[in-house]
Amino acid sequence: MTIIDIIEKKKNKQELTVEEINFFVNGFTDGSIPDYQISPLLMAILLNGMTDNETFAMTNAMLHSGDVVDMSALGGTVVDKHSTGGIGDSTTLALAPILACCGVYVAKMSGRGLGFTGGTIDKLESIPNFDTALSEEEFFNVVKSVGCAVIGQTANLAPADKKFYALRDVTGTVNSIPLICASIMSKKLASGSDTILLDVKYGSGAFMPNPKSALELAKKMVTIGTLAGKRIGALITDMQQPLSDHVGNSLEIIGIVEVLNGKKNRLYYEIKEVALRLLALTGKYTLASAEVAFQDAIDSGKALNKFAEMVEAQHGDASYILHPEKFVIGTKDVVVADKSGYVTHMVAADIGRAVTHMGGGRMQKTDSIDFSVGVIMKVQLGSKVNKGDVLCEVYHNGKGLDEAKSLIANAITIGRKPIPEHKIAYAYVHKDGVELY
Ligand code: URA
Repeated sequence: MTIIDIIEKKKNKQELTVEEINFFVNGFTDGSIPDYQISPLLMAILLNGMTDNETFAMTNAMLHSGDVVDMSALGGTVVDKHSTGGIGDSTTLALAPILACCGVYVAKMSGRGLGFTGGTIDKLESIPNFDTALSEEEFFNVVKSVGCAVIGQTANLAPADKKFYALRDVTGTVNSIPLICASIMSKKLASGSDTILLDVKYGSGAFMPNPKSALELAKKMVTIGTLAGKRIGALITDMQQPLSDHVGNSLEIIGIVEVLNGKKNRLYYEIKEVALRLLALTGKYTLASAEVAFQDAIDSGKALNKFAEMVEAQHGDASYILHPEKFVIGTKDVVVADKSGYVTHMVAADIGRAVTHMGGGRMQKTDSIDFSVGVIMKVQLGSKVNKGDVLCEVYHNGKGLDEAKSLIANAITIGRKPIPEHKIAYAYVHKDGVELY
């Protein structure tokens, strides 16, 4: 078997065997097959696709390129959730303590932000002393004693994905449904949970431009997860505007504390939808009983206290959760409406880019982050505004302010006519089919 034969075969739209897929994944990971041969293969996959069998084989090969975490010694249901990424998506931070209050374990490995998207790990590190790099043993102990823990992905979790992703990033091959599926699912299957809820985003702040492409990706990932023996479902949700009205690291923690204190905004409804679907997937709840448990976790104050408990167990200063006014945030400026009308469109990615320009995100993996900058949206899609109204507050420390304000002003379109309400969720995909909202 040679890599040239494999490239030719995929170029000619033929199905690759499990052996051929193992050959190129292992060869690229151990350095015996060079970038210049994997690049055309990735492009052939992007153009000609992969069957479910091929995608499953690629996922398995990448999953077994590193450690596979075993959480079975916890002796309970271990759940995980994965978002395909977006702007102001701090769902995990509230979801983990809420689900722990509902009696399931949450052992979550999350990523950092890159480009216009934020990352859960960066947000958590805005809490002084919070440790996102616990040893595997400590991670397990925090999950066991608190019920939830969130850490960064360990270096040896699906190392093949790190190599493939870096090459895809510079060869125009990120946007392939089987490659995205294998990348996400190899990490999810390696991280040891038995029940997985995927949150596949579409819109101007997401990888998938529209519900149709998000649905295609979701179906593929649910098929692969089911073949791997997991309980798995996928929500298709809207990312045509920032999910939270708070965007930026410390600001998003403040936004989460507001939700855990009972605020009912778009972020709350998203968290609720994800939590209910995930709890129902475990088989321990129906959607109706999950709703009761979810609301009780918030209304009783238990979820907020659980969040503080998790922060403390991960060596962070939990007083910031109970007193979020302690977070130091940048100097306030504003972007105002230049005419009256309705907010009809947002380029959500540009709002993320504005935060990155001010230092709140990174363009290179090695960039450091200013946790104190960000924006608070004062409008959402459909809002009625008058000329001069504040569209959003901008918190900065001088860096990139003019560029950020102009990006935000151009990202928000004000039209003359009202628009229909934007739903949070478009569809739910499970092993037996699709439910439209
Ligand atoms: N997120 C991932 O982890 N991988 C992809 O390929 C795309 C989004």
